[in-house]
Amino acid sequence: MSHIATYPTVQSTNRPAMAHINHQHLQHNYALLQERAGSAEIMAVVKANAYGHGIESIASSLSDAGCQSFAVTDAYEGFVLRQSLVIQNSVEITLLSGLFSPADAELASSARLSPIITEDQHIQWLQDADFNAHVWIKVDSGMNRMGAADPAKLIRQCREANISICGIMSHLACADECDHPMNQIQFERFTQICDEIAPELPRSLLNSAGMVTMPEHTMSIVRPGIALYGAEPVPSTPMGLKPVMSLHGSIMQLREVPSGTPVSYGASFVASQSTSIATVSLGYADGVPRALSGIGSVYINGSICPIIGRVCMDYTMIDVSHIDAAVGDQVEFWGDHILANDVATQLNTISYTLFTGVGSRAQRINGTSL
Ligand SMILES: Cc1ncc(COP(=O)(O)O)c(C=O)c1O
Repeated sequence: MSHIATYPTVQSTNRPAMAHINHQHLQHNYALLQERAGSAEIMAVVKANAYGHGIESIASSLSDAGCQSFAVTDAYEGFVLRQSLVIQNSVEITLLSGLFSPADAELASSARLSPIITEDQHIQWLQDADFNAHVWIKVDSGMNRMGAADPAKLIRQCREANISICGIMSHLACADECDHPMNQIQFERFTQICDEIAPELPRSLLNSAGMVTMPEHTMSIVRPGIALYGAEPVPSTPMGLKPVMSLHGSIMQLREVPSGTPVSYGASFVASQSTSIATVSLGYADGVPRALSGIGSVYINGSICPIIGRVCMDYTMIDVSHIDAAVGDQVEFWGDHILANDVATQLNTISYTLFTGVGSRAQRINGTSL
């Protein structure tokens, strides 16, 4: 007698925890950025699983829109993207954090990835790995995060080792603040470094916010990330971007409770009157920030409704007393109706943390509308 059970084929959870990814909006954003970039090339920043949106589908869509250059964090992310075959083999994949070990250099070599380099030992690792792709020279123009101590020496060493250089790159610290003096200081320092050490090499300075704040300095290549995903990098100067991700759960339970009823962990919310409570199938393990407890809002059936009590791991409770709501109704935490930037501002953070915080158990549903 066999004790082996037969199970149905299961592809994914039936729990409604969904990040809808709108590819029409993604392509709209790409086209807007392309227009702004003018003759400069776009290096689409798709690190951290395309800011939580799902790297394969995002890269595939951008590739369909004509994108020829992508940036990820490290060799592993680059390798996964190369292996996915969603982009043509000729497409450049840049590693914005460069190389962490000789093994990374070998991966970069076999998957034809283009790391930034900042240290002498990177060149040694690349030579040992018979590297024959390209590298970027990363210089520090004022952010004091990553950059070669002696970029001129690094360029000389690359040339001696026959390592081909794509260009010189730097990153802005304050691009989202139009009037910040750092922007001009960094631009001038970067220009001076490039002019001095390798005036002939391509240059790249601007991220999304830089494309708004310093549109005249697109140089050879721009590197937008957040703008692709539809969050305005400088909200006071909107570009007309459209949100790509909408984070949705749905109403699992509705209960009418009398005044005096506590809700959720800690009983920190107590109904002050008869209240209709919707329990929604999304919690902090899906990416709903726990800090939204008692202060955030969601969008249901055309109305904004408050989050009441503490956000739980798998659930969030909503006051739906003022609307018509039913079990199964869709609940938006951010997306087309509640901008991720607004949620981020409320929490004193940035939309990047919301997108990258969306848990792996929330399904990414790819489409062109909701
Ligand atoms: C070196 C570098 N370039 C470009 C970007 C893209 O920045 P943003 O998403 O602000 O456009 C990042 C993001 O952190 C980065 O680290």
